[in-house]
Amino acid sequence: MSGPRILLIVGGGIAAYKACELVRLIRKGGGEVTCVLTEGGAQFVTPMSLAALSENPVHTSLWDLKNEAEIGHIQLSRQADLVVICPATADLLAKMAAGLADDLATTLLLATDKPVLAAPAMNVRMWQHAATQRNVAWLRQAGVRVMEPDEGAMACGEYGPGRLPEPEAIWQEISVLLNAGADPLAGQPEFDAQPEHRPLYGKHVLVTAGPTHEPIDPVRYIANRSSGKQGYAIAAAAAAAGARVTLVSGPVTLATPPGVDRVDVESAREMAQAVNAALPADVAVMVAAVADWRSEDFAAEKIKKRGAEPPSLRLAENPDILATLAASPQRPRLLIGFAAETEDVIANAVRKREVKNVDWIVANDVSPARGKDTMGGDSNTVHLITQAGTENWEPMSKQAVARRLVERIAKALVDG
Ligand code: C5P
Repeated sequence: MSGPRILLIVGGGIAAYKACELVRLIRKGGGEVTCVLTEGGAQFVTPMSLAALSENPVHTSLWDLKNEAEIGHIQLSRQADLVVICPATADLLAKMAAGLADDLATTLLLATDKPVLAAPAMNVRMWQHAATQRNVAWLRQAGVRVMEPDEGAMACGEYGPGRLPEPEAIWQEISVLLNAGADPLAGQPEFDAQPEHRPLYGKHVLVTAGPTHEPIDPVRYIANRSSGKQGYAIAAAAAAAGARVTLVSGPVTLATPPGVDRVDVESAREMAQAVNAALPADVAVMVAAVADWRSEDFAAEKIKKRGAEPPSLRLAENPDILATLAASPQRPRLLIGFAAETEDVIANAVRKREVKNVDWIVANDVSPARGKDTMGGDSNTVHLITQAGTENWEPMSKQAVARRLVERIAKALVDG
């Protein structure tokens, strides 16, 4: 998947500094960002910071587009997949509603043929003012997605709605808009366009995925076989269902699903730390194939072939991240483990559910005879083991497993 291209318009408000965090999240998620800074915005963040974070030139003035022939304002407004305004000030919203075009930002907004997302930030009185409310209502009618601002203490000392939504929430919204037309999430279920109506809205879902690499020396490591595909599909499905998703990922070659906050790790101990740092979570789905052992010693230099005897490796046990989480005071309400087995799949998984004190285990057979399409492949045949018993799911794609599991998670949270 090639990443989405975002044209980010940074308006003039104290929240402009959070646009930097948004740029970071989009870049981390594999997206391209081109920033346009209004005159007001430039009072709060510098073109230099946005250029460094986006790794793209930043545009500030209509008259600055020196190479107008190459990259005129019309082209700039259309070469993105989505235009995002962050922060969208009362002034910018008013100009958009009135169809004014007196600087680069407003000219682009009038000239664009792409979806527009506005993340408002302003003083509570300004937000509640009849003029702003009328402008927002008009813009929404015209198809602009204007997010609701957050409520809370404001930089000016007042309290109420008007704070910029958190950058993670804006990134989530970006993914919703980008997925509205085409279907980059490969057949995600049709959810209500309003994120707040989605089944996992407001929930934090933590997913681990991929293998871990346990270093022996600078060039060698111990690892499990894992492509990360099943875990990434679950993270994508949870994000599409409206959840805030943290994906703690071992080394894989997959693109970050839209709207997902990904934390990259290498070893089991790093994964344990990243999982801990991501808490609290409402749900944790631990799909990673964590290496059970690591080399007790790490050789700072590459171990050389010397003499007749190969070096012996002493192993130390890695922390069991799932069992540790199950025993922690911050245990998520719903804790789901995976179990890849090569024999007695169900009996082993039932035992694992009890020993590790998790709510559900998703078990699959990865024996060379029966699970040959599972590891690294696109399909999976799983059994869902809960307190109520074992369900045998028919063979299906990893995306379909993810969707069905996310539906079950949403139902379990409602049923309590
Ligand atoms: O015991 P086993 O490794 O088969 O358990 C598999 C489950 O436990 C998976 O959910 C996996 O992510 C998790 N696990 C873990 N930390 C380990 C080993 C496994 O979280 N060190």
